[in-house]
Amino acid sequence: MNSTYLQLTIHYSPSLPKALQPQSFSFFAKILILIPLPRLTKKYMQQLSSILSRFSEPETLKMAKLGRELRAKGIDVIDLSLGEPDFDTPQHIKDAAKKAIDDNWSHYTPVPGFLDLREAICTKFKRDNNLDYKPENIVASTGAKQSLANVILALVDEGEEVIIPTPYWVTYSELVKIAKGKVVQVDTTMENEFKISPAQLEAAITDKTKLFLFSSPCNPSGSVYSKEELEALAVVFRKHPQVFIISDEIYEYINFIGKHESIAQFADLKERIIIVNGLSKGFAMTGWRLGYIAASVEVAKACEKLQGQFTSGTNSIAQKAAVTALTTDLKPSFEMVDEFTKRKKITMDLVKDIPGIKCFEPQGAFYIFPDVSSYYGKSDGQTIVSNSADFSMYLLNNAHVSSVMGDAFGDPKCVRFSFANSAENIQRAWARIKESLAKLK
Ligand SMILES: Cc1ncc(COP(=O)(O)O)c(C=O)c1O
Repeated sequence: MNSTYLQLTIHYSPSLPKALQPQSFSFFAKILILIPLPRLTKKYMQQLSSILSRFSEPETLKMAKLGRELRAKGIDVIDLSLGEPDFDTPQHIKDAAKKAIDDNWSHYTPVPGFLDLREAICTKFKRDNNLDYKPENIVASTGAKQSLANVILALVDEGEEVIIPTPYWVTYSELVKIAKGKVVQVDTTMENEFKISPAQLEAAITDKTKLFLFSSPCNPSGSVYSKEELEALAVVFRKHPQVFIISDEIYEYINFIGKHESIAQFADLKERIIIVNGLSKGFAMTGWRLGYIAASVEVAKACEKLQGQFTSGTNSIAQKAAVTALTTDLKPSFEMVDEFTKRKKITMDLVKDIPGIKCFEPQGAFYIFPDVSSYYGKSDGQTIVSNSADFSMYLLNNAHVSSVMGDAFGDPKCVRFSFANSAENIQRAWARIKESLAKLK
């Protein structure tokens, strides 16, 4: 029959009302419903916009979902695919949010954010980065992800090139594709600490280049650019005044090698640098959804215009809590970083002990991004591991540890493992990984 069927399988659940329990009609423990859907899928495919075919779902979220599905079946999955601190938001920030609720900060907010929040962000830039910004340079958003989307849509036109050093955070390339820009990947290597060299940057710039997009500290590689390395890139940017630069600094505080350096410190470039930052990582506030940019007034206004049609101003309570987070003691953030430092050491010691894995010691963020390609082509007798997706799936199914395949970050040789999990879980996970990998011959 030339129809599409939607198959719904309803399984027995202990939460069903008594009358529906299997003892009442055990043969009904599984109910199959077949709904004929003639040509529905095809029709919908035709109706959905072409934007959807231009980009993919984040692999990070897909892996987290697969892990949850196995966990729901009772399997003890250890999640090393996580992209967020496993800590709770510090108490004083939560208290500020509770107060904001009681003070009835419950109305629509200005599109770029409350003035006191934008002032607090300026204070933070002066305190942490010695950068001078005014509230009109700042746009707060529903997370750094939205900030990135705003900036990319505000700057990139169809066919314009955006240079992204690999490995990069999964969302960068997809946002450029949504804007119909052209992604120009520049591959970095572990030997070069996963950093783009000035020569590589120079070679990648063409007259169509609109934007350069990078993160330091970098997700997934953990590399952190020094002042000297940024200065060397700045020399190249000075020669190409049409190129804007997005500097994603969301992992600013999670830095294991010293002071955070922003490329915006080079005053002659500052007008075309857009700093993206947010509260998700440094304050353990991923669910609060608060990110921001600092940019020229023109770019900030463009982002405000876009955001005014997409989401309006972000959540009022999160904004008030963010004022407290940004202007008070950073001690809880640095305690969290101390803990990440310990876990990084534990992870590195365990990884060194596994043959065939080459790993760069991260300088920031909370991931390792090892080269696992020596396992490609090997098999445990049942499964052949041919690429990073197979490697991640093999570990999920055999070691019950979730990770994220390197292809998602533009580097097929590597796989990302987070150390934003307890020391105990990290130890258990790597013991299982070691055992599973030993079976690959
Ligand atoms: C490099 C990078 N930039 C931006 C984001 C987005 O952060 P937010 O939670 O503020 O949207 C993430 C989140 O994983 C990230 O890793």
